[in-house]
Amino acid sequence: MTFILAHRGSAGTHPENTMESFIAAEKAGADGIELDVQLTADHEIVVIHDLTVDRTTNGSGYVHEFTFKELSKLKANYHSTHFFKKKCRIPALREVFTWLCSNSLLCNIELKNAVTRYRGMEKMVIDLIRDYGLEKRVILSSFNRQSLVHCLEINPDIQTALLYNEAFCRPWEYAGTLGASGLHPKLKCITDKDILASMEYGVAVRPYTVNKEKDMKRLFSINCSAIITDYPGRAYRLREQI
Ligand code: G3P
Ligand code: CA
Repeated sequence: MTFILAHRGSAGTHPENTMESFIAAEKAGADGIELDVQLTADHEIVVIHDLTVDRTTNGSGYVHEFTFKELSKLKANYHSTHFFKKKCRIPALREVFTWLCSNSLLCNIELKNAVTRYRGMEKMVIDLIRDYGLEKRVILSSFNRQSLVHCLEINPDIQTALLYNEAFCRPWEYAGTLGASGLHPKLKCITDKDILASMEYGVAVRPYTVNKEKDMKRLFSINCSAIITDYPGRAYRLREQI
């Protein structure tokens, strides 16, 4: 069965990377969530996609310049097109983990460290995963290859996945050299043939961002390991029909 991972939660219907979005993903039938993490000035791991808060909140500036308390005051659904009366907050990763302890969802954590390095973030995230006993349910992904290698130095049993947005030859072999058990390609960067070859090789494939019904159906039909989608509800309904 192809797992459904909700991209930034149910980002197609709710403000991205908020608890509201993650809870909606669970209700929609997702098998797991994808989220993005960065560090604040006072070293809290926070869930937000962009390096700055400008696009998603009513604030302005780099995430790493704010304390967690300051970030918490911002409205995380300020620019969201989804109507929400209440204010949504930027969650700390520990808040998401507390919620994950009440369900059985998978969690794909994208380490947002390809541009800003966030020294020490890998260890902080892996320590928190251990504290919450979530080792078996978490996949760490990054566009930063060195970061993935570093994660495995910290904990050789943690699952890692290589993110990439430009096609290249036999990516599953490269994943193998990094010790990564998964590939997270941009959808257009991998063919069905290569998905099957990678899975045969033992490397899971979870393309992003799979929002169109025809792509969902195609990937379900070849039993792709998982899809990462903004619309987990749409994906769930389609998968039920198969
Ligand atoms: O993890 C898949 C996807 O989220 C990577 O790209 O820019 O949406 O974080 P982006
Ligand atoms: Ca992401």
